This record gives sequence, C-alpha cells and structure tokens, in this order.
Amino acid sequence: MSHLSQRPADAIVGESHHHESAFGHVTGTALYTDDLVGRLTGVLHAYPVQSTHAHARLGAVDTAPAYEVPGVVRVVTAADIPGVNDQGVKHDEPMLPTDEIMFYGQPIAWVLGEDLEAAKAGAAAVVVDAEPLPSLVTIADAIEAESFHGIQPVIDKGDVDGAFSDAAHVFEGEFEFSGQEHFYLETQVSLAQIDENGQIFIQCSTQHPTETQDIVSHVLGVPAHEVTVQCLRMGGGFGGKEMQPHGYAALAALGAKLTNRPVRVRLDRTLDITMTGKRHGFHSSWRIGFTEDGKILALDATLTADGGWSLDLSEPVLTRAMCHIDNAYWVPNIRVHGRIAKCNKTSQTAFRGFGGPQGMLVMEDILGRVAPQLGLSARELRRRNFYEAGQDTPYYQPVRHPERMGATWQQVIDSAELERREAEIADFNSRHDHVKRGIAITPVKFGISFNLTAFNQGGALVLVYKDGSVLITHGGTEMGQGLHMKMMQVAATTLGVPLSTVRLAPTRTDKVPNTSATAASSGSDLNGGAVKDACEQIIGRLVHVAAGLLGAPAHEVRIKRGVVSALSSKKTVTWEELVNAAYFQRIQLSASGFYRTEGLHWDLSTMRGEPFKYFAYGAAASEVEVNRFDGSYTLRRVDIVHDVGDSLSPLIDIGQIEGGFVQGAGWMTLEDLRWDDSDRPTRGRLATQAASTYKIPSFSEVPDVFNVSLLDMAHEEGAVYGSKAVGEPPLMLAFSVREALREAVAAFGEPGTPVELAAPSTPEAVYWAVESVRSPAGGERIDPMDRAADAEEAGGRGETPGVSGSSATEGETVGAAESADPDSGAQKGVTVPS
Ligand code: MTE
Ligand code: HPA
Ligand code: CA
Repeated sequence: MSHLSQRPADAIVGESHHHESAFGHVTGTALYTDDLVGRLTGVLHAYPVQSTHAHARLGAVDTAPAYEVPGVVRVVTAADIPGVNDQGVKHDEPMLPTDEIMFYGQPIAWVLGEDLEAAKAGAAAVVVDAEPLPSLVTIADAIEAESFHGIQPVIDKGDVDGAFSDAAHVFEGEFEFSGQEHFYLETQVSLAQIDENGQIFIQCSTQHPTETQDIVSHVLGVPAHEVTVQCLRMGGGFGGKEMQPHGYAALAALGAKLTNRPVRVRLDRTLDITMTGKRHGFHSSWRIGFTEDGKILALDATLTADGGWSLDLSEPVLTRAMCHIDNAYWVPNIRVHGRIAKCNKTSQTAFRGFGGPQGMLVMEDILGRVAPQLGLSARELRRRNFYEAGQDTPYYQPVRHPERMGATWQQVIDSAELERREAEIADFNSRHDHVKRGIAITPVKFGISFNLTAFNQGGALVLVYKDGSVLITHGGTEMGQGLHMKMMQVAATTLGVPLSTVRLAPTRTDKVPNTSATAASSGSDLNGGAVKDACEQIIGRLVHVAAGLLGAPAHEVRIKRGVVSALSSKKTVTWEELVNAAYFQRIQLSASGFYRTEGLHWDLSTMRGEPFKYFAYGAAASEVEVNRFDGSYTLRRVDIVHDVGDSLSPLIDIGQIEGGFVQGAGWMTLEDLRWDDSDRPTRGRLATQAASTYKIPSFSEVPDVFNVSLLDMAHEEGAVYGSKAVGEPPLMLAFSVREALREAVAAFGEPGTPVELAAPSTPEAVYWAVESVRSPAGGERIDPMDRAADAEEAGGRGETPGVSGSSATEGETVGAAESADPDSGAQKGVTVPS
C-alpha cells in the first residue's frame, strides 16, 4: 500500500463537490427507507402499546381486545421472541418487558395492522396490568438514591492533593446541564421482508448496520448469515441511530417472521421523542486550583452522566467525557471520577460528540465563571492554558501539533477583528443600559478514533466492470454528512478516473461485513482507508497490463482522470481500454479493501493509553446581544477557523462545520428537555414531546454573519490523503455562544462580576442571570425557583410547575452572599479563599 496520506497532483480529493444525493434531496427523488413501503404489497404497520408509568411491576397484558379491532393482524409481546429478548449490547435492555416497566413511554407490546390506523386502534385496546413502583426521574434523585449502573472509571494523574495545597487560587462548584433530543428529520424506521428461502432482509435507517444485523439475529435466534441489513441513506442520525434502531429492526423482523408479510415500523415524532435515547445530561462537581498567574495546577471533578434506564452506550460516552474534560488545556494534576445515574427515563445514547461535549462544557463553564475572580479576561485565561509541545493529556496521550490550537485561535482573532470589536462592544455597553453585547472565543480539541481500539477498522468493496465503470460499496452509512461523496472522491483519486466513472451502491451487510458504526467522526478515515486499499490492489494489477500496452516499465505508469500514460512512452490508452485489456488477460477487476488505524491502545481499567489517532482543532468567536427585560438575545456574528487537515471535500466540510455549530448552539441555548418529576400520575412523562414544545434552531437562529474557514496547511500525516475527521468537533465551537452570553450578562453588573448561567441558556435562564448580577452586591439574592413562582404569579412563564428542567440555577460566591440554600439549585459556586 502506498503512503496513506500522500496526495497526487491533480487529485479529485480536495475538490469541492456537492453532496452525492443533493439533486435527489432537492427534487425529492432520493428515497428514504419509508419511501420503499409503497413499492411493496401486503405491508403490515406497527404501533406500540406504551407504558403510562415511570416505573411499574408488569402484570398481565391482555391482547384479546386488540384482535376485535378490524384490521389488526397480530399483537407481538415478549412471549413471541424466539431468541434473546434483548435489544442492547449489554444485555440489560429487554426488547419487550416481561416483569418490570422502566420508563414512561416504554413499548410493552406492538400491534401489527393492515394500516397504521388499525394498528393504533389495536394498541389502544390492549389492556396492561401494571402496579406502580417508586421511581427516580431526575439525575439528582438518582444521585441521592445512589442509583448507578455500569463502570465507575477514574482518571488519576500527578499529585492532585499536593497541587491544591500549592495553588494560589482554588475554586469549587457544581454544574448540571441537560441533554439533547436528536430531532433527525427522518424518525426511526425499519422495513423487514422475508425472501423465498427464508432470508430476512431489513431496510433500516441505521448508522450501524452490522450491529442491527447482530441484534436481529440474536432476537430471532438465527445466525447472522440469515439476516441482511441495508441502509439506503438516513435523514439524519447524529448518533441517535447508532444503537437505537436495533430494537425496531428486530421488531419488524420478528413481525415478518410471525406473519410472513413485510412489516414496517416507523415512529411518528412523538413516539420517537418519547421512546428513544437522547444526549446524556450531566451533573458535575469540581474543584480547581490555579497558580498566581492563572495557570491550571489541579482539577478534581466528578462527572455523573444521566444514563436512563439501561446502559446502551453510556459507558463509552462517560469515558469520552472524562477524556475531554481537559479540552485544549494542560492540567498537570487531575483526578476525575465518573459514574452513570440509573433512572426511569429513556436510555440515553450517542449524540454528536459522544460525551466529549459534556466533558468540555464543564471546563469551559469553569473558566468562564472563574476568570473574573482571577482578574483575567476569559480569553486570556483560556489562551494561557493551551497545551504546549511535549505535554500529555490526563490519560497520558502526548498532544501532537498543539500549535494548531494556537494557530486556529490566532486566525479567528485576526479574521474576526476581535480586539477592535471588543473595544466597540465595551463602548456600546457603556452607552446602553437595557441592551448589552458580549463576545467570546472558545477552543476545541477533540480526539478522533473510537476509544475502544477494536472498532477502528473499515471495509470496502470496489468493482470495476469490463466497460471501465466502477461501483463502490463501503461499510459507512450516509446520514447527510457527505461520506459517500468523499468515498467516491477517494476512489476516483486512487484509481485515476474522473468522478463520473464512479458510482456508489447503498450500504449492505452482505457486501461489506463486520463493520463499525458510522460514528466517532471516523467514517471517512476508516472507510476511506479501506476504499483506498481496494483501489490500490486493483491498480497494482492494472499497472502491469498498462506497462504491456504502453511498452514502458510498470513503475512509470500514471493514470490520471482516465488517461493512462508512461514517461518513456509516446502512447496513451484510455482507462476503458486498459480495463478491457485486463479482462481479456484474466486479471481480477474487483477487490475488497480493509483498513485499521495503527498505533492505538487503551486500557479502560486505568484510563490510560493513546486512544486517538489525532486531535481535531478549532476556534470560534461569537457575538451576542442580550435584552435585559426578557432575556431574549440575538446571535450577531460568528467566526470559525477549523482544522480538517487537507480537506477531502471542502464544500462538504464547511457544511459540516456550519451544521455542527448550529446544532451545538441549539443545545446551548434553546433545546430544553423537561420530564415531569411531580408526584402526579404523569410522573416520568417527557413534557417536551413535539416541535411545539421542543425548540430546535431554524433559519432565524443562524447567526446574521457566519464566517467559516478551514485551517491552511493542515496536512495530517498518516490519515487518508492527509485529511481529518469533521463530523463531531464543530458542535463544541458553539460553546462560544454561551460564553458570549455570559459576557453580555456580566456587562449588566459591576466590572469583574462572576456570572453563573444555566444550560441551556434559554432567554429565561439569561433573564435570571441578568437579574442576579443586577442585584446589589451583598444584597438579597432570591432562589430562582421562588423567582419563577413569583414570575408565574405575575403572569410570566416561569418554571412549569412540577416539571424539572435545567434552567434552575443557583450560584453563590461565599462571602458575597450568605443566603445560598444548599438544597435549592442545580449549581453552586464557592470561592475558597486561600
Ligand atoms: N451531518 C448530517 N448532515 N447528519 C448527521 O446525522 N451526524 C454527525 C456528523 N454529521 C450527522 C452529520 C455525527 S454524530 C457523526 S459521528 C458524523 O457525522 C458521522 O459521519 P462521519 O464519520 O462520516 O463524519
Ligand atoms: N462518537 C464518538 N465516539 C464514539 C462514538 C461516537 O458516536 N461511538 C462510539 N464511540
Ligand atoms: Ca443509557
């Protein structure tokens, strides 16, 4: 194999091309899994019977009344499962419950009907006998009850206790923040059929076809070779289709087995929101020590992930969070404890960044909060703590190319004219009492590779037909991120043919087996390596054929954009002529390619190793304007410089950066998941179960000015054509929006006032943060829950009664106020004078 990262002159990688299905997307001809239903006859539709308890003992499930409903064909319960009743990988997640209901909305049985209406009416007719049990709904409930599951890893490096005693400044606090609903436009969907010899064929919107195949095969009790999974494309996955599709695919397959008819399982939006896992909310408590000049000396933190009822991917999410609490900063002495709260909610899962954002958010929140107390601007405090050459992470991985962090940072400062605008904003703020602006810049350093070394492998199948046309398949799935176009560009570059010569076929487990999830941003690294390998095998054979045709030595043969030449030959032949000649010489024209990332190792028991191939870097500066009267704000301008190595496809990468940023800004500012934690019968019910109550960003939330550029001269040695992964890291650039809000809020108070801000920083949260900095120092500070109640009495929105959210914030600095109520709030900040 030639050098992985070497890029030929005139390469097709590096050119800007639109998404492989762009025309199909805009004309409506690109099909999604559910569009295939209309092409089949006799399809049965599935609808769940959902639990109306957060936690209950499950008694009898009477399905007989459902069969009275016209059009109902079959009711599927746990008793119908021939294999293992489990939809997870940890064997803690029954696909259908047998004795215990674990969350409000959990499917207890499914009804298959001739149409959706019949299935729905049938589901309503099923009688479930359930005896309510005490439940834990909030992360605070779970922590108090010490309800944890899975591993409790520890990072421990350096002399933490010694460093605290040497520290000039020590701060401590707590921070709890909420999760995020994926809100992919296409909800979960599976369509199962059985062919004439009993082979099960499942079309599924899944990021992980191999694992969907595995789960279907163990639920049905059949070997993997009886199950084929295909993913045409997804209307978004964002991590929500890494583990979550498996149970629905298994249900569809089981239904097809039981009825011998095709079965479609498609969740409507509310089913999807109430049944599927989300980004993990976290609780953190921390203590941090600094030197006199603002360098981090020590961090001691506990991260608790809100895992929900089963483990799903909570363990690796937690470990990635712990491995990202440093973000871009050197923390010489560090101890981090991790644990996973078990509670009666949906089982939380992968979501873009996979715990990385949660770990990084804790650090960015700490720095934003304590900078005023260190007498530094947050910008200076951040810059002062960047990694330098020779330093290593809390898990002992050396940080290669830390200078790229500084480079993206400086490029943003320059291109955004940060210094000039900071002065302008200070001037604006001095002239406006009720409206203030804030600007902040934050860094991203994100580790690329799956923490679990084994997952870092990819496969591909490349077929060259006699006429020279090329068909490629690879193990990755397309969810809108542009992976397929990148893979076509890699194939065209490696084979030396025009892009139009290459076509791509949908991802299927019977073409490329044993694949990893398209996740961890590694789709193009892993599958690109495999596509390149397959193409190189074919080229390795073809150059000898070409040498014969051209009368030149094989090492001289060059194939570029379909023209085959050699330095010492005057002749040229076309790619098509070469392929045709090879066929008649009985040369194999197809290859299966494989790639594994070398040099990785990871020991979960000690939380040490080199889990990441490299780090992706970026920096973003955001400017906001906040209105004091209602906490409303606008995002005026965003400037981003992001490191994607030598881009495989710049237009796609810029799209990923924009999309990731906006999705992160949604999490930070708008998206507010609320579960009912009252003692009413609806306890445990997700109150925000549709677009009407769960707000995701739309056009109006995109910044007015949005400048995105790629870091120049960023070639990454040892990665496919020198490129870097892009899928997840830009999401964390959105922390700059929350930090800009903090700056704007601070401007309402005395200079140097520390600001605590809830996450999500909704207008409501920003309003209360402004109120708290506007209170005179040492004056009465009101518990936000009381304030919310006051606001409600006064006719304001306030907190929804009985519904827990994360916008309740309490922050106190000991000495500034004695009224901190230890039981009241989600956040506490304490300055320990030293
Ligand atoms: N972009 C779009 N349009 N839709 C998606 O669902 N998922 C993100 C990111 N970008 C996603 C996306 C997530 S969570 C990941 S891990 C990567 O894409 C996965 O694809 P990649 O590995 O090919 O970058
Ligand atoms: N992102 C990051 N790391 C991961 C993921 C993911 O989606 N899945 C497993 N490890
Ligand atoms: Ca979970």
